[in-house]
Formats: sequence, C-alpha cells, structure tokens
Amino acid sequence: MAVQASSVNMPVVLLKDGASQTKGRDAQKNNISAAKIIAEIVRTSLGPRGMDKMLVDSLGDVTITNDGATILKEIDVQHPAAKMLVEIAKSTDNEVGDGTTSAVVLAGALLEQAESLLQQEVHPTVIVDGYRKAANKAKQYIKEIADPVTPDDKSSLLKIAKTSMQTKLVRKNSNQLADMIVKSVLAVAEKNGDDYTVDIDDIKVEKKSGGSIDESSILQGIVLDKEVVHSGMPKKMADAKIALINTALEISKTETDAKINISNPQQMKSFLNEESNMLERMVDKVVGSGASVVFCQKGIDDMSQHYLSKAGILAVRRVKESDLTKLAKATGARIITNLDDLFEKDLGTAGLVEERKIEEDRWVFVEGCKHPKSVTLLLRAGSQRVVDEVERSVHDAIMVVKDVMELPSIIAGGGAPETYAATKIRTWAKSLEGRSQLAAEKFAEALESIPLSLSENAGMDPIDTLASLRSKQLSGSKWAGIDVMKGKVIDMKSSDIVEPLAVKNQIISAASEAACMLLRIDDVIATAKSAGPPPGAEGGMPPGMGGMGGMGGMPPGMPDMGGMM
Ligand SMILES: Nc1ncnc2c1ncn2[C@@H]1O[C@H](COP(=O)(O)OP(=O)(O)OP(=O)(O)O)[C@@H](O)[C@H]1O
Ligand SMILES: [Mg+2]
Repeated sequence: MAVQASSVNMPVVLLKDGASQTKGRDAQKNNISAAKIIAEIVRTSLGPRGMDKMLVDSLGDVTITNDGATILKEIDVQHPAAKMLVEIAKSTDNEVGDGTTSAVVLAGALLEQAESLLQQEVHPTVIVDGYRKAANKAKQYIKEIADPVTPDDKSSLLKIAKTSMQTKLVRKNSNQLADMIVKSVLAVAEKNGDDYTVDIDDIKVEKKSGGSIDESSILQGIVLDKEVVHSGMPKKMADAKIALINTALEISKTETDAKINISNPQQMKSFLNEESNMLERMVDKVVGSGASVVFCQKGIDDMSQHYLSKAGILAVRRVKESDLTKLAKATGARIITNLDDLFEKDLGTAGLVEERKIEEDRWVFVEGCKHPKSVTLLLRAGSQRVVDEVERSVHDAIMVVKDVMELPSIIAGGGAPETYAATKIRTWAKSLEGRSQLAAEKFAEALESIPLSLSENAGMDPIDTLASLRSKQLSGSKWAGIDVMKGKVIDMKSSDIVEPLAVKNQIISAASEAACMLLRIDDVIATAKSAGPPPGAEGGMPPGMGGMGGMGGMPPGMPDMGGMM
C-alpha cells in the first residue's frame, strides 16, 4: 500500500503488499456491524424463554447450550470487533460467571445507539465520554435499589442460584440443584473477619451421562473418575490412611542409553529378579509408612500392583494433579515426590474410601475426610450433551452464589434494574452540558434492550411491556420487573427472581468498556494475509459474517488494543 507524500511527489510505502486498511467512518461502521451481528446471535437466548443454540465444530462435535460465553467461544469468530465481544463474554464468565449474554446484548445495543449519533455527526470521543459517565451513574442507581443480605443467609443464596438456573435447561430441577450448590459453596467458603472468600476450585464437579438430572448428588468428600488398579485389591477401606504420591511406582528409564549384554539364562533371571526386587522395595516403603490407600499421579507397574494387593492396599493410578491437590487438602496428606520421604506423618485420613459402579464405569469415592472443606457435585443426565449443559449451568449457579457471598447485595432480575437505571439516567442526562447529554440518553435506551429482549423472547409485546414496567416503577415499585414465566410485570420480590449486584455491575462495566473501545477506533490495519485463510476460519463463521467489509481474511488475534483506551 502506498501513501502519497504531499511535498515530494513520490509514494511512501508504509505497509506490505496485500495489507488492508479501513479508515474513518468505514472502519467504525464495519466494527459496529460486526458487533451488532454478534449481539443479535445471542440475544434470542436471553432469559427463561430464550432459545438454545446448537453449535457444530470443525470435527462435527455438537454442543447445545444457552450460555452466552459458550456460544461465542464455539462459533470461533474472525472479525476483530466481533472478537472483542467474545472477550467480554469470556471475562464476564471468569469474573462473575453469569450475565454473559446480557453483557454482549448490552454492548451491541450501545454500539447500535452510537451509530445513530455518529450519523448525526456527534464525535466518537463525545459519545465515549457520555457513555463512561452514564455507566458510572447506572451502577450507582442500581446500587441504590439493591438489597443488602447476610452473606451466609441460605434462603437468599437459594433464590440467587435458582434465578440463574431459571434460564437454562435445568430449570425443572433447579430446586434440588440449587440446594446442592448452596451447600457446596457454604462448605468451602472461608471467613476472614466479616468477609467471605470462596475458591470454586475447592468444589469438584464430576459428570456422568446416564440416569436423570434428579439423580445428581452432593458428596462430602472427593470422587475420582478412576478405578482401583488391581482386581485383588480391597474395594472398600474404612478409616483409610492415605498416601499421595506423584512419582511412578515403576522402574524409571535411565537417562543415559545403556546396553547390558546377557550371555546366559541365569543372568537373565537375576536381572528380572532384581527388577522385581526393586519394585518390591518401593512397595515396602509404602507399606512401611502404614498407608492403606495409595493415590498415585503416575503409573503403577503390574508387579507393584501385585505387591500392593498382597499387602492389602487399595491403590489408584494416574490421578490428575488437580485431584491430588484436592485430596491433599481434604485428607491432610502431604504429596510425596520421593518414596524415601514417605512416613506415617505424611499420610492423610478419610472415613471411607470405596470403589462404586457409576453406569458402566467404576469410580473411587473418598468420604468422611478430615477437612470438611471438600465437596464433590456428581452431576447426572440422560445424555452427554445434556450433562455438559447441566455442568455449565451449575458453574453459573456456583459463581452467582459465590458472588453474593463475596459482595452480599442482591438486586431484582427481569429487567427491573436496567429499566430503573434507564429512567434515572434520562433525568440526570438533562443536567449534562453539550452533546454528551445525547450520548447519556442513548445509554439509557441501550440499557432497555435487556427488558425488551426478555419480553420479546417470551412472545410478549415489548413496547407495551416496557411501558407498563416504566409506569409501575415510577409509581414507586422499584423492584417491578417482567416475570416472563407469568407473562406480566410484577414485583420481582414476590417471584423470588433476584440476581447478584456484582453481576449487574460487571455487565455494565464490561459492555460499556467494549463499546467505548470500539468507538475510539478509526483505523483498522490488517497485515497481509498469509497463504490461504487459517484452517477452519471460514467454516466456523456464523452465516452472514463472511464478507464484512472485506475483513474476512484477517488473521486471528488482533493487535492488543489495550493502550487505546
Ligand atoms: N422468571 C424470570 N422472568 C424474567 N426474567 C428472568 C427470569 N429469570 C431470569 N430472568 C432474567 O434473565 C436474564 C438472564 O438471562 P440468561 O441467563 O439467559 O442470560 P445471562 O445471565 O445474561 O447470560 P448467561 O446465563 O448465558 O451467562 C436476567 O436479566 C434475569 O433477570
Ligand atoms: Mg444467566
């Protein structure tokens, strides 16, 4: 690409051949259309009446989900602006777990509103400024109507978990699942002074297809999807003394290549005997420590299995490292790297270690652990795809319970806080000087995309519903929202539809940051395409995204735009 230098009449070559540059209004238009398409994809899955998506990856694997973050992750978009919306879904998923669809819908709406301002020649930086101020105000207004709760108050936590699952396939089982989830989060929560912190990694989630969702259970302890390694070993061990080993109970290969020449059968025999003796000595060290159960991260040789089973020890091999860490926490055992360091004091304890049959598999259950902060949720559902979606929904619900324990404040769902904040922002916007007033008003309009989409997806009339919602709120019912299951506008408290304040804050911050970042871009420079599109790039695009402004061939991964804010 050549740029004409004005003083000297010679082209200055800046970009390599094949690079493309989209400038000014075109760049903005492009980015906004891409973001709008992404928002449109997930919008129909918002709320309890939202639809699910079936996603097929390049290998033909099918995922059926309603989770915004998962939908966007699976469709593998290529457009840089679309990628930014995928990013906000991801970051919302990591930060607060729920609200990923709402964040993307809101970002799309903010950009759509901005588009009309751009057409009226409002400068992007003015819009960005207005949006930033309005986002802060929105969070402030929503906080005003949030209800503080006691962090370990089980009944509010149950409501929160149930609302999060209302919008998913597990809705019918949300009572039972919510109960399990709240129990598990309360079990692992750590109290520091008045505050709680929850490490959700302490909750182990195992899933197994077959059976029905209501056969899911919570277990005080840890479940390993591994079986006892040798048929001669005990399958059940009460009052277990547990050794955790992250080295192989096998003869390790020498680091240097060596050759041994064996010239007679006697030598062969003694060689094999020595091997067997070495394994026996290894096992002796385990037996000597007094362990009755061994969890090994690496392999266990057939011969070692034999010696262990002779000693009446229950052993499991190839345990995941993360599970070994959880077992260490739960049983109080120390993970041993060198068998010479294994002593009785390194052992952990558990009331019961038992192998049980789960469908066609055998799993090992470790129960009655020394440390009560170890729980496993065992999820069941008819098929693999369903159990996968159950797991995703349970993840969202665990996260919202964690959110409330860490920031004990709840807010109505069903579009109530968005509508309330929008009304308040409209009034406040009048106090703003200049054109940022227009931007703030548009922000309010964008916030209302949430109640609009909720009602639209439920087959209600969006305009009538929003009007009735606004008027109910103005007449004093600040928690008035749309109960889409009942198909009317009511006080959300009476329907127990509540969400964590943390989720609403995150939705507003993530969506407005992404929108502002995209609005500030007036130049998109794409380096030359390498031969052919990256593998699978076209196949994974949602329909209609291919030819967006000729940017379809952009390599994955945009330059870091962090510095542009
Ligand atoms: N019974 C209900 N009536 C009305 N709205 C509801 C009801 N239950 C939940 N909602 C609303 O549905 C919205 C959440 O929908 P959904 O769970 O599909 O998307 P998300 O939480 O934004 O994203 P995701 O769950 O995919 O991460 C929230 O605004 C919530 O208040
Ligand atoms: Mg949700």
